[in-house]
Amino acid sequence: MRIGVLISGNGSNLQSIIDNEKYINAKVEVVISSKDSYGLERARNHNIDAYYETDEEKIITILKEKNVDLVVLAGYLTIISPKFVDSFKDRIINIHPSLIPSFCGKGYYGMNVHKSVINSGVKVSGATVHFVDYLADTGPIIMQDIVYIENNDDEISLSKKVLEVEHRILVESIKLFVENKLKIEGKRVIINEGVN
Ligand code: GRF
Repeated sequence: MRIGVLISGNGSNLQSIIDNEKYINAKVEVVISSKDSYGLERARNHNIDAYYETDEEKIITILKEKNVDLVVLAGYLTIISPKFVDSFKDRIINIHPSLIPSFCGKGYYGMNVHKSVINSGVKVSGATVHFVDYLADTGPIIMQDIVYIENNDDEISLSKKVLEVEHRILVESIKLFVENKLKIEGKRVIINEGVN
C-alpha cells in the first residue's frame, strides 16, 4: 500500500511511520510539507520524494501522480478543503493530540492544545486518530489512547507523554487501514479484527 504524508513541522509522527513500514506493510511514497520543515529532511534521509508546497491543487496533483492509497495528516496545520477530502474519500486520516471531541477544532493545534488541557484541570488527556471529513477534527474516530496528568505536569511534559501515544496509535491505525479492518458506519469506525 502507498502512503502520502502531509506535515508542517518536526515530523516525529512521520518518522514513526517510516520506522514501521515493514510492520504496517506499506511504503511512504511522498512527503509534502506546508513549511520548509525538518520533517522534509527526515524524508530525504530515507530517499522519499519530499516537497515544500502550500498550493492545495498542486498537493492533490502530487498525491494523485504518486498514486497513493492513503493520505496521512501528521502534524499538518492547514485545514484541507472539501474538494481535497472528496479527492480521497475515506482515505485521509489525521492525528490530533487530545481526546476528541475535547480540546479540538479551530485554533487547537500543537502546544495550544496542551496549554488548554493543563489549564482546564482535567486528569486525563491523550491522542486521537480519525478519518478526515469536511470540518476540523470531526471525522469518525479510529483509535484513541490516554495519558494521566500528574500534579507536576505542565504543557511541555504533557506534550511529550501525548506524542508517545500519537506515534503508537498512528502506526496501529494505519496498519488496520492497510489490512482493510476499518469500516465506517456513520460517525463510528467498526474495527473488524478478523477481516483480512
Ligand atoms: C504533534 O503534537 C501533532 O499531534 C501535532 O503536531 C505535533 C508535532 O508533530 N499535530 P510532529 O512531530 O511534526 O509529527
